[in-house]
Amino acid sequence: MSQVKLIVSNWKMNLNFIQTRKLINGLKKIKFNSSTTKNIICPQFLLIPLVSELIKKTNILVGAQDCHQNTAGAFTGDTSVELLKKMNCKYVIVGHSERRQYHNETDDIIKQKVDLILSFGIKPIICVGESLKDRKNKKYTKVIKEQLSNCIPFGLNNVIIAYEPIWSIGTGLVPTIEEIVEIHDLTTNFLKKSKKINQLNFLYGGSVNADNFMDIMQNTNINGALIGGSSLKINEMNKILTFC
Ligand code: PGA
Repeated sequence: MSQVKLIVSNWKMNLNFIQTRKLINGLKKIKFNSSTTKNIICPQFLLIPLVSELIKKTNILVGAQDCHQNTAGAFTGDTSVELLKKMNCKYVIVGHSERRQYHNETDDIIKQKVDLILSFGIKPIICVGESLKDRKNKKYTKVIKEQLSNCIPFGLNNVIIAYEPIWSIGTGLVPTIEEIVEIHDLTTNFLKKSKKINQLNFLYGGSVNADNFMDIMQNTNINGALIGGSSLKINEMNKILTFC
């Protein structure tokens, strides 16, 4: 089990160029242990060239929030992983619930994206998570296993999974420590057994802030967080990165 912590900022469709410069300048000043912590920023596409330039010669890494499942072609409005690679993106978030919901992304499309991203030597951060209805109906383990089964290739050396229950994204609701541990264990066992994957980076995402981050990291064995709203706040990021 990897002990490196991944702190992934999902800026979503936020920040303009001026705000981006300000936030990156703030992030550059945060002193964190870059041998044990990776600080990965995933901005919207048009900010990637700027972020990529601003983080040169720093210990900050850049990633993307999505890409198309084909390298090139007649796909109006989409973005190619080839260009993300040229922009120095080391990670791509795939299968975020907002992509599944608003862009009708299926497990099958997500799997195609994962395969393509891997073929470019980039690391996919694969999101899974259940709806509130699934949790209330006690279907959440089935739903998560299905997503893992459908979206993840067999036999990878290493995989990054972000567990993001849909009901916790942007709501301030966070699962209990026991609930996170349950999904972490389920994911580890499932991937070992059915995909022959032994190396897992398991991230939690959904209403993460500095306070609940510390609680989660102190009381679980997980490898970091995928952070939306709080990733836009320099004080929260300062506490999160220096705690790692
Ligand atoms: P949130 O978003 O931290 O604002 O809940 C997390 C995410 O959607 O990745």
